[in-house]
Parts: sequence; structure tokens; C-alpha cells
Amino acid sequence: MSTKKIIIAIDGHSSCGKSTMAKQLAQKLGYVYIDTGAMYRVVTLVALRKGWIENKVPDKAKVIDGLKDIKITFQWDEKQGKNTTFLNGENVEEEIRRLEVSENVSPISTIAEVRAEMVHQQRENGKEKGIVMDGRDIGTVVFPNAELKIFMTASPEIRAERRYKELKEKGLDVNFEEVLSNVEGRDKIDSTREVSPLKQAGDAIVLDTSYMTREEQLEWTINKVKERIEG
Ligand code: DC
Repeated sequence: MSTKKIIIAIDGHSSCGKSTMAKQLAQKLGYVYIDTGAMYRVVTLVALRKGWIENKVPDKAKVIDGLKDIKITFQWDEKQGKNTTFLNGENVEEEIRRLEVSENVSPISTIAEVRAEMVHQQRENGKEKGIVMDGRDIGTVVFPNAELKIFMTASPEIRAERRYKELKEKGLDVNFEEVLSNVEGRDKIDSTREVSPLKQAGDAIVLDTSYMTREEQLEWTINKVKERIEG
């Protein structure tokens, strides 16, 4: 493949395989991978730890003020073949995936000041190109000029089933209905929030993963990358 480096924006619903695909793609291309959902999860984790969220309602002023003390970094874990997320140098990768964080992250991600700070950090990461970033607003807000934009989706039931299996495999005590309701609830908040709602960019290509294997998804995407780089 040519050495031309591009920005690849992957947006879409929660639990439709975005981060797995983005990770594999970055590895294959030798690109940097940034999981922007992890960044909103870190802010949520801090807010939960500090007691700034009550009944899923965050104390906005406290969260906004707390942003200055949050430094988010990523490190590629070669052995496990995955990204690890750090909060001020502490490995929080496991903790930010817990259901409690998933249940509270959407309200945190609706705070305009939180989004502004995350978008600023995301753009800093993309300056050199050669990046795969996944999230909800990457193709619409963070990098509207990204050379390749993919909008991933799958039916809520299929996404909940995948998420349920993942959590079970990690030994967590969850039930399917709870996971499905979390997936549907997040879809609703993500798509209807005022600031940067999840929506397909006009120039994004849709990838419905409902009935595709991970290998098929990756192959499909690599072909699109080739078209952009070589075309
Ligand atoms: O991709 P994820 O499920 O880890 O994302 C967690 C939450 O963060 C999700 O409910 C929506 C929010 N999010 C966002 O608002 N914008 C992004 N770019 C990425 C995630």
C-alpha cells in the first residue's frame, strides 16, 4: 500500500464492533488508534469516584471544573494486542468498561464543555494523520475532512447479545435484558442529545455488521482504505 497517511473516522452505535475493527485496522496499517469512547468513560469514572453523579444526573459545574485534573493517555499493549487507557498514569482500562460506567457515560458526554475538551485533545492526536479514531462525532465534528468516514451499525438485539457475551466472559454478573436496555438507552441519548448527536456524516459509508464476521468487516474496510490511498 502507498505511504500516504490518512485520517480514518469510524462512527456508529455502541457495541457494533467499532473499536475492535478500528484497533485491527490501525495495527494492520501501522496507524495510531484512539478510542474516544474511552475518553468519555474516563471522565465518567472520575465523576463516579468523586461522587459527582447522583441518580445518573451529573453535577455539571463539578465535572467541568474537574476536567483540568484529568490527563488521558493510551498505550498499545503489544502482548494483549489491545489499547490500554490511563487516567493520570493509572491503568483504568478494566474499570472504565464496567456497567456502572456504561450506565452513566451518556449524561456525561452530553456536557458541552466536556465535549469541547475531548475534541480538542482528539484533534491534537490527529495532527500527524496516520490515525484511526472511533466514536460518535469523529466524521461530523472532530475531523470533518477525514479522508475515510465509516458509519457502523447493527441491530440493537445483536449488539446487546455481543456485549452480553463479552461481559459474561469477563465473569461479570449481568442479565441480557439489562444489557439490551443499556444499549437502547444509550442509542437514544447519543442520537438525540443537543451537542454533537450521533449522526451519519453525509460523506460516510455505512457498514452494517449484523451479519458479518469480524474478518469480513476488516476486509471490507481495508478495501475502502486502499481506494482512498491509491485512488
Ligand atoms: O464507544 P463507547 O461505548 O465506549 O462510548 C461510551 C459513550 O461515550 C457513549 O455512550 C457515547 C459517548 N461518546 C460520545 O459521545 N462521543 C464519542 N466520540 C465517543 C463516545
